Amino acid sequence: MPIIAIANGKGGVGKSTVAINLTGALARKTEAVFLIDVDPQGTVSDWFKSRQEQLPNRLTHTNLQITSLPWSAQDLTAKLSEEAQKFTFIIIDCGPANDKITRTVFALSDFAIIPVTPSPYDIHSVRKTIDMIHEGKSSAGIEVKPFLLISRKIVGTSLGCEAREALAVFNVPILKTEICQRIALCEAGIVGQTIYEYASDSQANDEFESLGKEILKWQKQSSPH
Ligand SMILES: Nc1ncnc2c1ncn2[C@@H]1O[C@H](COP(=O)(O)OP(=O)(O)O)[C@@H](O)[C@H]1O
Ligand SMILES: [Mg+2]
Repeated sequence: MPIIAIANGKGGVGKSTVAINLTGALARKTEAVFLIDVDPQGTVSDWFKSRQEQLPNRLTHTNLQITSLPWSAQDLTAKLSEEAQKFTFIIIDCGPANDKITRTVFALSDFAIIPVTPSPYDIHSVRKTIDMIHEGKSSAGIEVKPFLLISRKIVGTSLGCEAREALAVFNVPILKTEICQRIALCEAGIVGQTIYEYASDSQANDEFESLGKEILKWQKQSSPH
């Protein structure tokens, strides 16, 4: 059961949106997925509250477990050592800081997805998150494998290609899928649904389907916890 951190020390890059909708994509293809919120801002927790107000027939994922509160580093370590085996995937949505909880999440995770918006400022800010992972490899036993994900790309621009070239300096693999800026993702979030539940015939849905396929391959590569 791969544990996947969704992290970037910058806010607003789409971490929570990716965490929620990747969870939806994986839930459709596997047995049980656990989405954990460790961000004190609690975006996933707020989404979960809205979800609880939805009519049950609008919620199609039946194999999701979602946390309703941000978790401390201690709670998280204990919970994962007890329960990680129950899930096919565990997705952890980190907050916008390279802090203690993020370090703990990296130490517990097999993979990290670092969403990055294709803007020069955001590309620059990714360095700190990557450095944290590299430093942890030498000092804190962190073995997480990082991947970059182009997120919030404006449709019809070449910024995605340009970002790929600029991101190459980090020597970290970049996922093939690009997540574009799509209003349906915003709307789905507000009503506590994933894109699969809110607009299954949308392009945003297709992008998360493609991301889900890429990530599903990681199931064979994770270490036992
Ligand atoms: N691909 C996207 N298309 C449209 N809106 C998006 C997309 N990704 C994020 N957003 C919106 O941008 C804002 C910040 O996104 P969020 O996922 O909360 O980022 P983070 O978790 O990195 O702070 C939210 O209002 C969210 O709905
Ligand atoms: Mg967030």
